[in-house]
Amino acid sequence: MRSSPPLVDTHGRVHRDLRISLTDRCSLRCTYCMPEQGNEWLARTSILSLDEIERVAAVAAAAGITTFRLTGGEPLLRSDIVEVVRRLARLEGPDGPVQIAMTTNGIRLPEFLPGLVAAGLSRLNISIDTLDRERFRELTRRDRLGDVLEGIAAAAASPLRPLKLNAVAMRDVNVCELVDLVAFAVGHGAQMRFIEQMPLDAGHTWSRERMVTREEILDALSARWELTPVPGRGGAPAETWLLDGGPHSVGVIASVTAPFCGTCDRLRLTADGQLRNCLFSTTEFDLLPILRAGHAPGVEEQHLDAMLRGCIIRKLPGHAIDDPSFLQPARGMNAIGG
Ligand code: 5AD
Ligand code: SF4
Repeated sequence: MRSSPPLVDTHGRVHRDLRISLTDRCSLRCTYCMPEQGNEWLARTSILSLDEIERVAAVAAAAGITTFRLTGGEPLLRSDIVEVVRRLARLEGPDGPVQIAMTTNGIRLPEFLPGLVAAGLSRLNISIDTLDRERFRELTRRDRLGDVLEGIAAAAASPLRPLKLNAVAMRDVNVCELVDLVAFAVGHGAQMRFIEQMPLDAGHTWSRERMVTREEILDALSARWELTPVPGRGGAPAETWLLDGGPHSVGVIASVTAPFCGTCDRLRLTADGQLRNCLFSTTEFDLLPILRAGHAPGVEEQHLDAMLRGCIIRKLPGHAIDDPSFLQPARGMNAIGG
């Protein structure tokens, strides 16, 4: 496909990262993400097919998207996941081949990993909020810590690097485990990253007061390690610190107390074909009518490209979570994509 101009918004941010949610289904029910029961699932007929995802991604790559991050819900619940990776990994942008990353809860990784690596997966982020089985069961409403640990062990044994482990820091859940989680990650050759909890849960239970902040996380870790900031963050959400001078490191994603919207280069596609310019956006750009109109390939590409640009041009400077007028998006995290 012919390359098209880069995706620059009205604040000068060049977009290079497209997060593609492959399904809103999940094998867990984390309390900060999904309700226990009664979640309204996306209609199966509206979920993008393998071909549709590939067609959108090809237009995005031509416009300078260099990284596709596959998310969910849980991306490994898609039966065609290896084929999705294979098709996307062969795309080329103006600067060469694209990178394929995945954010997963780790369950079923041992089974899929060899296929994913052969298909061209570049990087993995695995979510693990606690190392305590009972706490894990309460938080995720499923007794599957053992499966997640097996998934992490498989990832550690794979060639995929850097390997990152993510935890949402939570007051009554894992704030006492921050040091243990870092030590666990180091033992697996991985980087632990702590995320400030964002108001994206189905139950709307988030509160600024209960949130564990970046500062609190750094205080807890400083009691155990000397932390040295690593410069050169670029557009990355995580700030990174070396542990006792390195080589191991830890990351903090302070979306609420130190927002990084100013350097955001990310765009999102939901499993049902809605483009979003921000996790917290309340507007979506529907690609389904374009993808299902039966356009000739060249015409479809033009429409998709115009939609990408329309979405980018309306991107606001930031999310304003801390502002009293902040409105939580209607969809939960599982239906937006992490
Ligand atoms: N706040 C912060 N992070 C969240 N995640 C899911 N919901 C939230 C939230 N409300 C994280 C998961 C996972 C990634 C997909 O997003 O822990 O690491
Ligand atoms: Fe599933 Fe991730 Fe949501 Fe937890 S946070 S329920 S693992 S999609």
